[in-house]
Amino acid sequence: MEDKISRVTIHGFMAKYYDTILNLITFGKYPGLLNKAIEIMNLKSDEKILDIGAGSGRNACLMHNYLNDNGEILGFDIEPVMIHQFKKKCVFDNTKIEKHDIIEPFPYVDYFDRVFISFVIHGFSRENRKIILKNINKSLKKGGKISIFDYGNFKFESQPFFIKTIFKIAECPYAFEYISDDREKMLTDIGFNNVKINELAGKYVTLTTAIKNS
Ligand SMILES: C[S@@+](CC[C@H](N)C(=O)[O-])C[C@H]1O[C@@H](n2cnc3c(N)ncnc32)[C@H](O)[C@@H]1O
Repeated sequence: MEDKISRVTIHGFMAKYYDTILNLITFGKYPGLLNKAIEIMNLKSDEKILDIGAGSGRNACLMHNYLNDNGEILGFDIEPVMIHQFKKKCVFDNTKIEKHDIIEPFPYVDYFDRVFISFVIHGFSRENRKIILKNINKSLKKGGKISIFDYGNFKFESQPFFIKTIFKIAECPYAFEYISDDREKMLTDIGFNNVKINELAGKYVTLTTAIKNS
């Protein structure tokens, strides 16, 4: 069931024009940040990747550039408008999307080399975040990686007025928890190690990578 407090489930107009809106509200900076994040991930050409809350397929198409025919990308999303866009945009034999609620157990165990989750996890309660991270952990092979592209850690109260205003308008209460929660603890508690955080737009946007325990 949809969580009414969360704002990560995007419908209708917002879903159809999500990529364009994101480019506009970040003054054109978003594509550069995303490209950088994917470059840092250093994907191997035969990786099996799960893209959680895959959205329009923009991320999957970019990751696909790094793969050969042995690599695979599977997206999960629940929003039909997003799924439709993904199918139109990512027309490759080794890339597909399934309708799946990421709170529910994933139908893949010890299968993926990497799970990518971009601007999704901040929109869930701490309790649901744990469930999602456990689902991700189970779906990864031992030694597989999670890559989280999302807000970093920053103190909301110390931010300039315009950042506070934009964040308040755009984000739900769960995002306020997320920016203050310790990422290393969040991941090591679930069974990951070797947590690395790359700052992409200062502390505001980061790529956090960790490895599933062997
Ligand atoms: C903010 S958008 C980010 C989309 C994409 N990851 C990106 O970076 O462009 C969040 C996405 O998560 C999906 N989503 C939200 N809740 C979900 C859930 N419970 N299960 C699967 N997908 C979900 C939404 O439909 C939407 O496509």
